[in-house]
Amino acid sequence: MEPHVPVETVAAARALAEQKKIDVVVAMGGGSAMGAGKGVVSGAGRSLIAIPTTYAGSEMTPVFGTTDRAEGRKSVRRDDAVLPRLAIYDPEVTVDLSPELTASTGINALAHCVEACYARDVNPLVPPVALEGIRRIVRSLPLCITDGRNLDAREDLLTGAYLAGFSIGNATMALHHGLCHVLGGRTGVAHGVLNTIMLPHIMRFNADAVPDAMGAIADAMGADTPDPPPQGGREISRMEFSASDAVAALVASLPVPQRLRDAGVAEGLLESVAAEAAGHSTVQANPKPVSEASVRELLRAAW
Ligand SMILES: [Fe+2]
Repeated sequence: MEPHVPVETVAAARALAEQKKIDVVVAMGGGSAMGAGKGVVSGAGRSLIAIPTTYAGSEMTPVFGTTDRAEGRKSVRRDDAVLPRLAIYDPEVTVDLSPELTASTGINALAHCVEACYARDVNPLVPPVALEGIRRIVRSLPLCITDGRNLDAREDLLTGAYLAGFSIGNATMALHHGLCHVLGGRTGVAHGVLNTIMLPHIMRFNADAVPDAMGAIADAMGADTPDPPPQGGREISRMEFSASDAVAALVASLPVPQRLRDAGVAEGLLESVAAEAAGHSTVQANPKPVSEASVRELLRAAW
């Protein structure tokens, strides 16, 4: 399964499902395998069973994206009929996930919790679930990277990803996911890697608009976050440690690209990505108004 769910892959799988008169589809894998499974059942009266092997959380959402690679465009749709009828969480199937994929898909799960905490339409049921997801992800992710065979940590992280998927499935995505979707469609860089690079920048941008949510996120990240890196040569105390600092410190400790340039994104793409993202409805659902200039600045900072 290629990243970002190419439309032709879905079309081929749908044709096979029609030819064989398939009524139940089992998707096993990461976010792209889930997305392809959803593409096969959408509008076809089929049911989906999901067995996630990463922390993307797609098995808990009715959302799926497909990518037209010729146009470099990822379109994300919501269809309640694609929500899996059954999701099976088995930490045994995640023990061989590499440290890199553990880190990047784990931060994607963290981003689901973060965006759900300050979503414009936030349902009071969601933040407590999202904050519990954050606690589990932050304490278990470093353990899973040090020892991928630590089943207790793998189960804790998978449970965090489940809570994260529930949270984002019940909230409107905002700037972070909108921008990551445009970047993914244009560059083909994996969704988890883009999440890892962009999340601290987006949180810094949104911080003044949603101070209560950011305070709750910082508390949930709490003691399990690595020590804050010095800022501008100055040591900062934990008391001053904001939610975005905490995420930046966690990301800096992980085996993933830290900048868009390290992930192979060409500088020349930034202008057109900013223009497309600024008009994107998901980006415009952000709790703080987003201009094309601010998207450009965010991309520059992350490049
Ligand atoms: Fe995501």
